[in-house]
Amino acid sequence: MGSRYDDLLSLFVRRGFLWPAVDLYGGFAGFYDYGHLGAALKRKWEGVWLSYFLGLGDNYHLIDTTTILPEASLKASGHVDHFTDILVTCTKCKESHRGDQLIEAVTHEEAEGLTPAEVDAKIKELGIRCPKCKGELGPARPFNMMFPLAVGPSGRDRAFLRPETAQGAYLNFKREFEALRRKLPLGLAIVGRAYRNEISPRQGTYRMREFLQAELQIFFDPETADAEFPPGSIRADPIRVALAAEKHEPSARDRAPADLIARGLPAFYVHHLALVQRFYLDRLQVPRERFRFAELDERERAFYNKVHFDIQVDQGSLGGFKEVGGVHYRTDHDLAGHAAGSRKDLSVTIDGRKVVPHVLELSFGVDRNLWALLDLGYELSPSRAVLHLPRPLAPVAVGVFPLLSKAGLPERAESIYRQLRGGLDALYDEAGSIGKRYARMDEVGAPFCATVDHATLEDGTVTLRERDSTAQVRVASSGLAATLRDLIEGRTDFQALGPAVERN
Ligand code: GAP
Repeated sequence: MGSRYDDLLSLFVRRGFLWPAVDLYGGFAGFYDYGHLGAALKRKWEGVWLSYFLGLGDNYHLIDTTTILPEASLKASGHVDHFTDILVTCTKCKESHRGDQLIEAVTHEEAEGLTPAEVDAKIKELGIRCPKCKGELGPARPFNMMFPLAVGPSGRDRAFLRPETAQGAYLNFKREFEALRRKLPLGLAIVGRAYRNEISPRQGTYRMREFLQAELQIFFDPETADAEFPPGSIRADPIRVALAAEKHEPSARDRAPADLIARGLPAFYVHHLALVQRFYLDRLQVPRERFRFAELDERERAFYNKVHFDIQVDQGSLGGFKEVGGVHYRTDHDLAGHAAGSRKDLSVTIDGRKVVPHVLELSFGVDRNLWALLDLGYELSPSRAVLHLPRPLAPVAVGVFPLLSKAGLPERAESIYRQLRGGLDALYDEAGSIGKRYARMDEVGAPFCATVDHATLEDGTVTLRERDSTAQVRVASSGLAATLRDLIEGRTDFQALGPAVERN
């Protein structure tokens, strides 16, 4: 076994989850391709995300918007002027570094939000040199992370690849508000690609230059927000939080929602922390102690946020708690910005009052979330390699095998497989020993395997094996699809299917 990171990457490449893009030509830093299992896992994650978050409100909808935006719109949003990282270039080897990361590597404390002058001062104070060649580092300067484009043959129309999906929701808010009969709260979700010219892409899918975001923008009336999202319904949910001063610790504390509100967080915000936490603990089955929110202080917050907590998952391959999303109270920053930039009125009338809606953004990086789930789920021990994915997310739901490649068993197994394939992600395999086939299914996270043996030909039952426990029971092949669906959706317990039988 190598490092956790290497073990994971080896699994991803070997089995068809993901790998660096264009590796035929030596790779393309910051870009990843998903293989057949990775693409299927991503689709399922998106499905689970959409059903949960669109289900949070009657007036929450999915939209789909352009990935190229004209300069004027990104000037108004603040991205042209403020969407920057601090770039430091080595005077000798010309390698580019992020200033905050150079400092963090030495101090092990967050350095995000420092100005170029502060970065220069810290580099001098700590005697930091180029990590690659030990050369002297040049002066720090802001570097805009958007990819510029020249649109049209003349190249006069400046535009950028969108740095976040969120802007699509703000640009279309007024149209959707009108189309949806002028009601707040209104939720607009987008699942789509975002692009950032990261200075130093690294750590697998953690810092990419093209990545997938799933973001829900909730537009609400700030005057009635706490009544609209009352804390009562989440009172019993202690929330795992590391406050700004605690987030360098590798832990978090459970805090009652009322305590967080007493600390000055808006009640509607705390309400959504609890809902996001439920998504992670219940839907994604992240163990409680490996999940937390981490508060960002004023320096670290994105330029558009008034309240900002990162969503973090503890990942062995990345060295601890790492951000996979964020809960952002963006106030009226975006609608007011676009109203000023476009000279259009983006206010709405609610109960006779003119209101510029405020926005609460629930933002998720899909690639980072997938990496986190795979990291959490991968158990690698000398005796077993198993991917414990939540059942509804597993790219292969069931492996179907004949115990032996003779005596009519393959034909029967294939016919069962064809029936299952209609509504389930089934995979047929008759190559190698049954032990090897189970091992392959364990490693791709298939929660169940159905094996056809001699008894199947006599009584129509198959052996159904459960991935995590490796327990096996006999079930009727006639109702297998329904049984599997019940197991995957959590309506039936595996143990309830019958007594465990001897393993084959
Ligand atoms: N609309 C708000 C927004 O974009 P963000 O914190 O910059 O906020 C949201 O990004 C999420 O997108 C992050 O929490 C992360 O999961 C993902 N993300 C951001 N930059 C990324 C990158 N370079 N590579 C992979 N995922 C990234």
